[in-house]
Amino acid sequence: MTDFNTVRQYNFPTTIRFGAGAIKELPDHLIANGLSKPLLVTDPMVSGLDFFTAIKNSLVAKSLSVEVFSDIHKNPVKSDVLKGGEIYNLTDRDCIIGIGGGAAMDVARAITLRINHHRDLFDYDDLIGGDKYVTEEVPYFITVPTTSGTGSEVGRSAIISEDDTHRKRILFAPKLLAKIVFADPLLTMQLPPFVTAATGMDALTHNMEAFIAKGFHPMAEGIALEGIRLINESIIKATLEPDLESRSKMMIGSLMGAVAFQKGLGVVHSLAHPLSSLLDTHHGLANAVNLPYGMRFNAPGLEEQFKRMAIAMDLTGTTGEDIVNHLFALNKKLGLPTKLSEIGVKAEHIESLSDLAFADFCHPSNPKPVTRNDFQKLYLEAL
Ligand SMILES: NC(=O)c1ccc[n+]([C@@H]2O[C@H](COP(=O)([O-])OP(=O)(O)OC[C@H]3O[C@@H](n4cnc5c(N)ncnc54)[C@H](O)[C@@H]3O)[C@@H](O)[C@H]2O)c1
Ligand SMILES: [Fe+2]
Repeated sequence: MTDFNTVRQYNFPTTIRFGAGAIKELPDHLIANGLSKPLLVTDPMVSGLDFFTAIKNSLVAKSLSVEVFSDIHKNPVKSDVLKGGEIYNLTDRDCIIGIGGGAAMDVARAITLRINHHRDLFDYDDLIGGDKYVTEEVPYFITVPTTSGTGSEVGRSAIISEDDTHRKRILFAPKLLAKIVFADPLLTMQLPPFVTAATGMDALTHNMEAFIAKGFHPMAEGIALEGIRLINESIIKATLEPDLESRSKMMIGSLMGAVAFQKGLGVVHSLAHPLSSLLDTHHGLANAVNLPYGMRFNAPGLEEQFKRMAIAMDLTGTTGEDIVNHLFALNKKLGLPTKLSEIGVKAEHIESLSDLAFADFCHPSNPKPVTRNDFQKLYLEAL
């Protein structure tokens, strides 16, 4: 039952320049804001791609001084952030631009925090109330997504792991929202099929988990439902025969997922996070495999919400099981695995995975409570 005597907070994001060619506006945007010394933060792969060189050249052509920091891990760790912060200071930068997937944008956001906040980085962990220490100004921060998945471009948090344990920590503060997002689908045209599929399933998971998450947030739910529709209708084309339309729909759908998940996420993300911590599994892939199982767990009792998601997906059947079967089939069509054993999970991992999943920060907003035993059962079912 919804409690209408409670005051809630709804946060919607920042200025978004969306569309093919949006990235061309970046140099003039910097100049108009009096900025001339950007630190471009990306990952080692993206730093070698043609579009990245073109972005760099477009800045240099306008006489801007450009430094690149790309020395980051696949699942970024604290020392990556500290290194990037040192480079910012040593090279006397005046703004930070995160260009890449969630990993690069998260590191860029964490460096943005780091510059004027000098406590231990994980003192700012949101789960221990660390956002109260985020008191200083932060450098001008811009995001440029080049995958369509995490939606980190419109987020206010950065997921950074501990170097030794690989435990994921969340740095969060409203100030860490990008001042502007340049979301240009043309930058995703060369994204390989596997990454397109895995990141796209992450975005679908955000929209689905947000739609059914606990709480009263009709705006997030409306966005999530349309995000589900857009991703469901374009993910196969974007993966197997990409064109601008399918890539554009994936990019806006993933951005919408991240706007929607301010309502909360759920059991699927809590199942997925430990796989990245323990086995370095890509975040989107971990969600893709767990999504049908997590939705099957949630479906009983949520018939109305599942029906609305099924309608958004244009399915003939509208039960929870119809959605679950559709998700399994989607993973297969995308060439993604449907079992955890196919991504290196072994029976002996289940205990540690279940501990980590139960300690994860996402499932408290799942529409129904999840116990450690539930996680164990879900992992075993998906094995
Ligand atoms: N901040 C948030 O709200 C949030 C939410 C979910 C996940 N995350 C984090 O995001 C990370 C995952 O992000 P991701 O799924 O975008 O993956 P990613 O950043 O790891 O990128 C996936 C791969 O695609 C490559 N790539 C990126 N853009 C490309 C392009 N245009 N063409 C070709 N290759 C390209 C990258 O080099 C990388 O190898 C994880 O670290 C996860 O913890 C953050
Ligand atoms: Fe995610």
